[in-house]
Amino acid sequence: MSDIAIRVENLGKRYRIGTRQARYATIRETVTDLATAPLRRLRHLGQPTPAEETIWALKDVSFEVKHGEVLGIIGRNGAGKTTLLRVLCRITDPTEGYAEIHGRVGSLLEVGTGFHPELTGRENIHLNGAILGMKKAEIERKFDEIVDFAEIEKFLDTPVKRYSSGMYVRLAFAVAAHLEPEILLVDEVLAVGDAGFQKKCLGKMEDVAKEGRTVLFVSHNMIALRNLCPKAIWLEGGHISEGGPSQDVVSNYLKLLATNVYEQAWDDRAKAPGNDKVRLHRVWIEPDDGTGDAGMPRETPLTVGVEYWHLDPTAQLHVTLQVYVEQQIVAFTTSSGLDSGWQGVTHSGGLVRSTCRIPAHFLNTGQHRINVHIVRDRSTVIHRFEDALSFDVVETEQRSGAWFGRVAGVVRPTLRWRTKCLGGPDNECAPRDP
Ligand SMILES: Nc1ncnc2c1ncn2[C@@H]1O[C@H](COP(=O)(O)OP(=O)(O)O)[C@@H](O)[C@H]1O
Ligand SMILES: [Mg+2]
Repeated sequence: MSDIAIRVENLGKRYRIGTRQARYATIRETVTDLATAPLRRLRHLGQPTPAEETIWALKDVSFEVKHGEVLGIIGRNGAGKTTLLRVLCRITDPTEGYAEIHGRVGSLLEVGTGFHPELTGRENIHLNGAILGMKKAEIERKFDEIVDFAEIEKFLDTPVKRYSSGMYVRLAFAVAAHLEPEILLVDEVLAVGDAGFQKKCLGKMEDVAKEGRTVLFVSHNMIALRNLCPKAIWLEGGHISEGGPSQDVVSNYLKLLATNVYEQAWDDRAKAPGNDKVRLHRVWIEPDDGTGDAGMPRETPLTVGVEYWHLDPTAQLHVTLQVYVEQQIVAFTTSSGLDSGWQGVTHSGGLVRSTCRIPAHFLNTGQHRINVHIVRDRSTVIHRFEDALSFDVVETEQRSGAWFGRVAGVVRPTLRWRTKCLGGPDNECAPRDP
C-alpha cells in the first residue's frame, strides 16, 4: 500500500448561487460508499453555466497527505474549507480535478450530517460501526467508551432527533473518534459545546493522531491547531494561499487577519459583490473623533455604514451586521430591522444607505471583523459578505487605577455603578482620611 492517504489534484468545485442544497448526505451514506470502494477517483465534469450565476468555492487545489499525518486547514469564512471536506467524504462531487482517498473515512462536519434521526443513540453507534466494517464484538468493546465520552448514557435509547445540538455533537464526535476510521475529517467541532468538552475533544484528537491515524482538522482555534497539527494549509477564496509548517502558516494568516480595512467601495454595479437582488456599493466604519489611523478609539462612538443597490422592489431588505472578535467569536449581531422608520417602507429600488452607531465605551480592545448580511423580509439572508470590515479597537484614554492589563470579555461596556453606605451599629461609613 502506498503511503499516501489523500491525494488532491487541481480540485475545483463550482456552485450555482442561490441553489444551496437543502439536503446533505449523511455520514452513513458517505461512509458506505467509501467502505465498499476504499479507493475511488472522484471525477465529475459539470455542465457549463454562465459565469454570472456561479462561484468557485474551490479552484486549483492540490495537496497530499501521508498516512499518519495530521493536517490543519485554516482560512476565513467562505474560503472553501467545508467544501473541501465535503468533497473528500463524497457528500459532494468536484466540478474539476480529482481526489484519491486510501482508507476508511470517518467525518464530523456540520451538526446534522451525522446520524439517522429516527434511530436511537445506541442504534446509531452500532450502525456507524457496521458501516466502517467493524465486527459486532469490536463495536461492543468500544461502546462504553463512546457513551462515556459523549456523556449521553441517560439518552441512549432516545431517537437522536430529540437530542439537543450539544448532545448530538458530543455523540457524533465520540463515534467519529472512537470507531477507528483510518482517516478522520473534523470541521469546526470546537465551535460547538462548552469549554470542558472542547478540551476533551482536543485530547481525543491528540490520541487519534498519536495512534498514527490520518487527521484533517479545520479550526479557527489557532492555539489548538498549532499544537495538534505539524502542517497546515491556508485556503483563501478557494485557493491554497500557503502550505507548510503550522507555525509559519498560522503566523502569516494571523498577520493578514490583523490588517485593517475601514472601507470598501464598488462603483461598477455589475462587478460589485451581490446578486440579481442586491449589490453592495460601499461599506465603511469611521470614528466620530479622529481618523482611526492608530485604530478605532474605544472612547468615541463609531459609525458603520452600508450602501447597497436594492434591485428587487417587491422585497423589504435589511442589513445585518455580525461583529466578531478574535477566533470566530461573535461579540454581537445587530440589524437595520431595528429601525422602525424603515419597516414596511416600499421602495422602487435604487441606492439605499443604512448606518449603525456603536456607542463609545462599549467595545473591548483588540481586533474586530464585521460580516455584512443582506436579509429579505426579515427572514432570508440573500447575500453574505464576510469580513467586509476589519479594525483594531484601541484604548486612548489614561486609565485611573493601578492595573493596565486587558480587561476580559468580548465587549467592555462602561456601566453605571453606585455604592452607598447603609450605615450600621458599630461601623458608620466615613470619608477616608486624605
Ligand atoms: N451548497 C452551496 N451552494 C452555493 N454556494 C455554496 C454552497 N456551499 C458553499 N457555498 C459557497 O462556497 C464558498 C465556500 O464555502 P465553504 O466551503 O462553506 O467555506 P468555509 O467552510 O471555509 O467557511 C462560499 O462562498 C459559500 O457561500
Ligand atoms: Mg465551514
